[in-house]
Amino acid sequence: MDKVDFNTYSIYDMYENMYYIINIARSIVLNEVKDVLKNGGKIEQITKIESRIKSYVSLIEKMEHKGYELTWNNVIEKINDLIGIRIVCNNLNEIYEIANLVKNDARFEILKEKDYIRKPKESGYTSYHIIFRYKCKIEEVTIPIKAELQIRTVEMDNWASVAHDLVYKKKKQVVG
Ligand code: GTP
Ligand code: MG
Repeated sequence: MDKVDFNTYSIYDMYENMYYIINIARSIVLNEVKDVLKNGGKIEQITKIESRIKSYVSLIEKMEHKGYELTWNNVIEKINDLIGIRIVCNNLNEIYEIANLVKNDARFEILKEKDYIRKPKESGYTSYHIIFRYKCKIEEVTIPIKAELQIRTVEMDNWASVAHDLVYKKKKQVVG
């Protein structure tokens, strides 16, 4: 094995380990969000809740694009949507009610809110996004991890999935 191959394998190993941890964090964050919905009496009303971790390719592209060195700390601190959670509900009111439940829950440190409903993206994309940080306890270690929560109606979700496949970006995602 020459030097280039060796380097490729070490980076790959590092990411495999990283993805193992991030996937545990995904499952913890998903359960916490579900818990908020349950406590707020919303879990029965929603159409679906799903989660994913950012794909390897998409992560590398974003880090390169933003000019960050590929380190664990940079990935954890700079990438807002390392973990993605999506809640699909029935109407506009519910979106804001769910957003308020999350915003008023001290478990989550709210970092950013993007209301693409009041202000749709140029593409026509609509959804309510909340970027938050959650301190995941994984095997005695506390890892503050960022997640992007997307809240949308069934109609918004249908539009986005068609538009995502056709134009937005094609990427393989790890779902769970
Ligand atoms: P990326 O676009 O993912 O690089 O993140 P960003 O920091 O530019 O944030 P932005 O709020 O623009 O997008 C975050 C996420 O919203 C994306 O990863 C998509 O899941 C979704 N999204 C944003 N714009 C569109 C769009 O035009 N079409 C679709 N289908 N999804 C979109
Ligand atoms: Mg974007």
